[in-house]
Amino acid sequence: MKNIKISIIVSVFIGLNVFSQQQKTIDERVDDLLKKMTLEEKIGQLNQYTNDANLTGPLVIKPNKQEEIKKGLLGSMLNVMGVERTRKYQELALQSRLKIPLLFGLDVIHGYKTTFPIPLAEAASWDLEAIEKSARVAAEEASASGIHWTFAPMVDISRDPRWGRVMEGAGEDTYLGSKIAIARVKGFQGNKLGELNSVMACAKHFAAYGAAVGGRDYNSVDMSDRMLWETYLPPFKAAVDAGAATFMNSFNDLNGIPATGNKYLQRDILKGKWNFNGFVVSDWGSIGEMIDHGFAKDSKDAALKAIIAGSDMDMESNAYRNNLKQLVEEKKVSVELIDDAVRRILRKKFELGLFENPFRYSDSERQKKQLNNPEHTKAAREVASKSIVLLKNENGILPLSKNVKTIGFIGPMVKLKRANHGFWAVELKEIDSSYIVSQWEGMLNKIGRNTKLLYAKGCGILDNDKSGFKEALEIANQSDVVVVSIGERHDMSGEAKSRSSINIPGVQEDLIKELQKTGKPIVVLINAGRPLVFNWIADNMPTIVYTWWLGSEAGNAIADVIFGDYNPSGKLPMTFPRTEGQIPIYYNHYNTGRPIKNDNDIVYKSGYIDITNSPKFPFGYGLSYTNFDYSNLKLSKTKITNKESIQVTMDIKNSGKFDGEEVVQLYIRDRFGSVVRPVKELKDFQKINLKAGETKTLTFIIDNQKLSFYNEKLEFGSESGEFDLMIGSSSDDIRLKDTFELID
Ligand code: GLC
Repeated sequence: MKNIKISIIVSVFIGLNVFSQQQKTIDERVDDLLKKMTLEEKIGQLNQYTNDANLTGPLVIKPNKQEEIKKGLLGSMLNVMGVERTRKYQELALQSRLKIPLLFGLDVIHGYKTTFPIPLAEAASWDLEAIEKSARVAAEEASASGIHWTFAPMVDISRDPRWGRVMEGAGEDTYLGSKIAIARVKGFQGNKLGELNSVMACAKHFAAYGAAVGGRDYNSVDMSDRMLWETYLPPFKAAVDAGAATFMNSFNDLNGIPATGNKYLQRDILKGKWNFNGFVVSDWGSIGEMIDHGFAKDSKDAALKAIIAGSDMDMESNAYRNNLKQLVEEKKVSVELIDDAVRRILRKKFELGLFENPFRYSDSERQKKQLNNPEHTKAAREVASKSIVLLKNENGILPLSKNVKTIGFIGPMVKLKRANHGFWAVELKEIDSSYIVSQWEGMLNKIGRNTKLLYAKGCGILDNDKSGFKEALEIANQSDVVVVSIGERHDMSGEAKSRSSINIPGVQEDLIKELQKTGKPIVVLINAGRPLVFNWIADNMPTIVYTWWLGSEAGNAIADVIFGDYNPSGKLPMTFPRTEGQIPIYYNHYNTGRPIKNDNDIVYKSGYIDITNSPKFPFGYGLSYTNFDYSNLKLSKTKITNKESIQVTMDIKNSGKFDGEEVVQLYIRDRFGSVVRPVKELKDFQKINLKAGETKTLTFIIDNQKLSFYNEKLEFGSESGEFDLMIGSSSDDIRLKDTFELID
């Protein structure tokens, strides 16, 4: 009886304590905890180590992590995957004096086990719902596997396809990139942080990492503040407005100051002007790398500069672990600065509910239910289909009839499995890649009993061995139609994968030239993580489909498009150059004082003597199996003040015989301003579904925000004057035009 009384008293006490804790605000609970922490324990929260089994950066030898965790000297780990492993490390953390749980972060860039198209491919879908769904599924699977935090979305604008990391982002356009940043943050974080199927998002890499000189990864970035504010910062601001819980800084120096030591970026803009209350994690070792930058004398100086600049957590450089205590003792760093960083991190741990239950995300039952479940697989296939871009379809070879007798499926990409995940796939060692649907399997799943599918590899991706051509030609000659799948290897785009030449490697184009001689109808699939240069194919092959790297349902999605079960709707999120010599090349360029009127008009004009200025394929370009007619453009007003807006309506008709989706793009041109303005800027778009023969009226609103820009003094606002309004199917396929005026 006595024991029962005691257990009742104890459970009432615990209940009251939990209740009182929950009644306290998170900030009060953070402050209570902070008061109990030693300086070493505080610095421990600013320290993040990787799991050595899955490195995503140069290995930094470190002391015994288990011991450090038990002493409360580590606040977070990355690259720890799965319920078992995260539990193991969390149990160690609960042996520490204050039992502060670890945060587990991972690059869940486009899927955990169910893998979606690489982000640049998803951007080609221009389907914000689909993109949000992709991030949602990634969060549902990762959060069931012990992960609290994904290092995504990467929101770096880039105009340089030599930079391998374009595959992780949303391309060259600030408006599209900002919308996609919002969709991805919302997808990852769900309705509220702390919900079991949500993870913290991490907007990265702050900032302007995509403008590395020469497209060479980790290289310097030098740009005007106006360019920074106008083009590179808005997607980050969009991420803050969408509630991104964390940021990650970038490796590059920006105008001479490494981002991780850049007070202007991290304190003045992010934590100051934008009032960001999450925390900033350094990119892998970037604090210590300030020594190589020549910005810090040594590790101690690096730690000093980083903590003052607003880098809250040190990923993998050991600079904070080894130096902050001494810097505080020497009064070079105030405890308040340390406390601010610790508060930001603890606040997120409380928001995630980790103090109530440190194991709540490490749930093997949920993990089993979530990973690669049918609903996720279906979503992956849909998003992949939407991401495919039809570049050419002359002679109407596509969609293929399901009665075609013999298909020759040729090329080095046809039977690859893991490659379809692209560079940033979560390497789930214990899970084999059998669930990934190769292009070959996708075709087999699709064709009927009466269709024969023949295969030949033809050649490798990188080597110059043409001995496989003979077999490929034999297969082609036995076929009614040939599908050939080529491209760059899946790990030729991604981190530290810049290419000076972005051609199709090896002898793959030669293979196609030989196949063309057979006279067979040929469909070319190009797999890549970036825009490539493939002029001969583009000029000589009638049917070309850009299939990027589409994730675990790649094969099924490609087959859906090839056989018309999904009518391709993708539009390029980046400009495709004719040659590397045109880079940087992007659609929203300035006009210059000597614009060329046409390709021959280059005498004393801004052009090249050896190539046109125009791209091979422009931003916003992509074909469909059907046609869309644009008509009936109406503006509610043609003169507005900056307090008013214009309602723009237009009709779009599917005049073909296939149901399909179209991305209707709205561009404006500010004809003149106190600073030069781009020849056109994307300011809105709508992706709509139209049945064959169907017409819809679309409405767009042009408000002052869309007419505003940063002037010379970095003031954001609009200026009176005339504007061109353009609506089209691509940045260089404008179907409807009008003008309007902004008046004082
Ligand atoms: C890498 C990448 C970054 C990634 C981090 C952790 O170096 O730059 O995007 O999130 O390290 O893997």
